[in-house]
Amino acid sequence: MRLCAAIFGCATLTACSEQATEGSSSAQPEGWDAELALVEAVDLDPAEDVVELDLTARVAELEVRSGVKTPVWSYDGLLPGPMIRAKKGDLVRVHFDNDLPDATTIHWHGMRVPAAMDGAPGHSQPPVEAGGSFDYELVVPDAGLFWYHPHLDSAKQVGSGLYGAFLVEDPGEPEHIGDELVLVLSDMSIEPDGSLTAPDTGGAVGDLFGREGNTLLVNGRVRPTLLARSGVRQRWRIVNTSRTRYYQLALEGHGFTRIGGDGGFITEPETTERPLVVPGERADLVVTPQGTPGSELVVRWVPYDRGYGSTYNRPEEDLFVVRFVGGSKTSPPLPNTSRAIEPIDPTGAEPVDLEFTMVAENGVAKMAINGAPFPDAPPVAATVGQVQLWSVRNQTEWAHPFHLHGFFFQVVNASGAPLGAGEWKDTINVPVESTLHLLVDYDDRPGMWMFHCHILDHAERGMMGMLHLSEQAHP
Ligand code: C2O
Ligand code: CU
Repeated sequence: MRLCAAIFGCATLTACSEQATEGSSSAQPEGWDAELALVEAVDLDPAEDVVELDLTARVAELEVRSGVKTPVWSYDGLLPGPMIRAKKGDLVRVHFDNDLPDATTIHWHGMRVPAAMDGAPGHSQPPVEAGGSFDYELVVPDAGLFWYHPHLDSAKQVGSGLYGAFLVEDPGEPEHIGDELVLVLSDMSIEPDGSLTAPDTGGAVGDLFGREGNTLLVNGRVRPTLLARSGVRQRWRIVNTSRTRYYQLALEGHGFTRIGGDGGFITEPETTERPLVVPGERADLVVTPQGTPGSELVVRWVPYDRGYGSTYNRPEEDLFVVRFVGGSKTSPPLPNTSRAIEPIDPTGAEPVDLEFTMVAENGVAKMAINGAPFPDAPPVAATVGQVQLWSVRNQTEWAHPFHLHGFFFQVVNASGAPLGAGEWKDTINVPVESTLHLLVDYDDRPGMWMFHCHILDHAERGMMGMLHLSEQAHP
């Protein structure tokens, strides 16, 4: 659209689409995603298999809500940060500069990188102090949508805008899955004058509930509009980067097909009416919006009961608008995205029992795993090549999204047999009064790895632990 408007000087989008669809690979109206497309990081290395980029964290005055400026904590002055695009197997080099007033690190959420590149302060690397820099170097072994964010004072830093999408493509993936959008869902708490709400607002109660922002953002924008041609399939690759908020999505009159999750395609696509994406999690959804030209549909955030007080008196909220332009078309059938995922063999898996715990005492919220707030507990010990069966128990009043760094897991029943669509996960909701069982098979990346609740207000209050993965003991 930007191109089109520049060349043709079109007054309206419709006029543009009539002139410019010829030769376009997509059947969507020209400029369909102009309000939603993410800025992409510039690859400075011409080599095929190397992606090299500069990334700077800094405060930028951005008009997130119209009419007021907000001092956003940003990567490269953008909200969200630039999307990094690479191919499976690429070497990615990120020259990172910290121009923030505070120390920070970057964690590559869901990516199987070496421990030294994982961004865990004090374990992977020292914090990158204000004015400092750090070179990250990773080979990206898995296709899928991932994301990057700080791992220091993360509730404040992520809540203030530090996050970006990281898309790893698989050149062997089928074509025509759908016209693709990467959607970074987040929220931010902005005061009427544009300033950011204090990150510790609400004290212990704020910590217990987790802090949800008052401004819903889709790719950093408030209620943007997507142009769509009725009947043409779209692929929405979603990541939830908010510090606390769960996203349950609804599109009136439409269902979704989920073809992938955290770690790429799932074994078999499954239909879902109201997909749920918890903090840190990803969903790869296919949807075919239908409507008459000129009409609009709204993609809504629907309150999800994640525990005490989380839905009371809360209305649905608008995320973005789908406006139909031009006549309808039909897409060819959805290509086969089925994927064989070998279930991890649970025989001899070592059990590891974890429980989320939280108490408020004298106005202070204490959150922990197995009663020990981070970093008080000894690390969970494992060796390379070992399989462990983690039981993650939640008897608290709120659901918690559990995230393990560095390794995917499979969700299984108590005896280790597969549950649900086979898929690779790194983040999963643990509902109130439930216990989830996760099988982890450790590949050869020894080191210290974190696991935690991805409600960052909980993680920062101690709901976090360490895994110490050692080299196989040689006899
Ligand atoms: Cu998004 Cu410790 O993680
Ligand atoms: Cu939590």
